[in-house]
Amino acid sequence: MKHIISIRDLDRQFIDELINHANHIASQHFNANSLSDKILALLFFEPSTRTRMSFEAAMARLGGTSISVGSIEASSMAKGETLADTIRVVSGYADAIVLRHPKEGAARLASEFASVPVINAGDGAGQHPSQTLLDLYTIQQSLPLDGIDVGMIGDLRYGRTAHSLAYALSLYRSRIHVISPKGLELPSALIGELRERGTEVVEHEHVEDIIKELDVLYVTRIQRERFPDSASYFDVSSSYKITTELLEGVRSHLIVLHPLPRVDEIEPEVDDLPYARYFEQSRNGVPVRMAMLQEVLK
Ligand code: NCD
Repeated sequence: MKHIISIRDLDRQFIDELINHANHIASQHFNANSLSDKILALLFFEPSTRTRMSFEAAMARLGGTSISVGSIEASSMAKGETLADTIRVVSGYADAIVLRHPKEGAARLASEFASVPVINAGDGAGQHPSQTLLDLYTIQQSLPLDGIDVGMIGDLRYGRTAHSLAYALSLYRSRIHVISPKGLELPSALIGELRERGTEVVEHEHVEDIIKELDVLYVTRIQRERFPDSASYFDVSSSYKITTELLEGVRSHLIVLHPLPRVDEIEPEVDDLPYARYFEQSRNGVPVRMAMLQEVLK
């Protein structure tokens, strides 16, 4: 049984094969009935648009069925049921579970009680492996994954997409440049782990210092919901913004990615520049998640 909880559980061969598989799917090479006897349970205990809808769309494209519980408030968890019990019960209704939960570690815990595969769709400030797979998929559409310079800007402390992506890039010997407001730096334990794995991680105070040397700029939203209070959020909100001016003179092949939703960290005028790939990136969630579902449900 294959759970997908952390990007650390996946090796480079698995990721490369999954990307190949998603490329095949994107060129319409798939059986539209391959999951017609399968049921996917969506347990989303935090807001979601892209992740949830693209998993549902992926399941529908493969002929499968999705079932879901609305919100925590609409489920028995509101009556005090433990996550472990919910997962045991849902394992009896579905062939796989996609879980998003506000607590870091929730998906790992769920996998210990599930009798079907669990895919982590985001556990608090922890991990978001399916997002990383579609991020890597989007990068390889125009660049090699090996040996590139990737800038990561924004809330790298609470941003789970950044945590998963940084680790994945260490499988490809890419250099990571990190730029974040004070207090929102990539966790030092993760930086230490990346460096131990031989990955170059360079910290920059200003994005201007490095932008012209980047192949990829990965922008993230400040994760307001993880802040202890709103005053500390307002201290850092609007502290960085990707503008058309900032992008003058960058490498012609630079791609700007963002897991979305965006708040104000990329100005709308950037959407019309050839560098902007974030909407394409979100569309890529469907073939990548189709490949993931075929993998865990086979
Ligand atoms: C991200 C998440 O939920 O971590 N969204 C997503 O899945 N595309 C990023 C975010 O919320 O900022």
